[in-house]
Amino acid sequence: MKEFWNGRYESSEYAYGTEPNKYFKEILNNYNLEGKILLPGEGEGRNAVYAAKKGLNVFAFDISIEGKKKALKLADKEKVSITYEVGDFLQMSLTNNSFDVAAMIFAHFPPNIISIYHKKIAELVKPDGIIILEGFSKGHFDLQQRNPNAGGPKNVDLLFSIHQIKTDFSNFEILELAEKEIELKEGEFHKGKARVIRFCGRKKV
Ligand SMILES: C[S@@+](CC[C@H](N)C(=O)[O-])C[C@H]1O[C@@H](n2cnc3c(N)ncnc32)[C@H](O)[C@@H]1O
Repeated sequence: MKEFWNGRYESSEYAYGTEPNKYFKEILNNYNLEGKILLPGEGEGRNAVYAAKKGLNVFAFDISIEGKKKALKLADKEKVSITYEVGDFLQMSLTNNSFDVAAMIFAHFPPNIISIYHKKIAELVKPDGIIILEGFSKGHFDLQQRNPNAGGPKNVDLLFSIHQIKTDFSNFEILELAEKEIELKEGEFHKGKARVIRFCGRKKV
């Protein structure tokens, strides 16, 4: 897995571009989010750098060292500072109830561990804190067969459902939870029609 992502990020191009994910940007702005933000599976840093430019204190991580190098290069170019660790979720020593915001943008993990990761993220967010998630939905599977450029895991078990998100984040008030068909324009690897789950929730006090 690590080799796959390092291979993708070795090129000088940014695989998903350098602009932030649209939904992530929209939520940060609409809710005027501030404070400390956690970005698991952050890849090449497009969302981390955007959040830092908005004044948030960024902690990002990813299993890919190549992702980290590109993220730090982008941060340098945009003259912001981010903290970025390389490693798997369960290797990070993070404090529960310490993040104001956590965002998982196209962070898909194997079915046996995804709920463990989601629950861990839920613990790391402060009461009243916000989770933002955008990921491919199970409904994306057929679209992806027709347009592989849209991206996303090829295994349907790694795709999200509304039911799963509701279950994993049951201690969050739902501010938005919907399956949507959208047009992706994020670099070379997210191009065209896609079906996604968008979730924004506030941790119950
Ligand atoms: C589709 S990319 C999304 C990157 C970024 N969130 C974005 O939207 O630009 C998925 C990312 O998850 C990372 N990843 C996969 N398994 C991981 C794990 N177990 N722990 C941390 N990151 C992981 C990959 O290295 C990759 O950068």
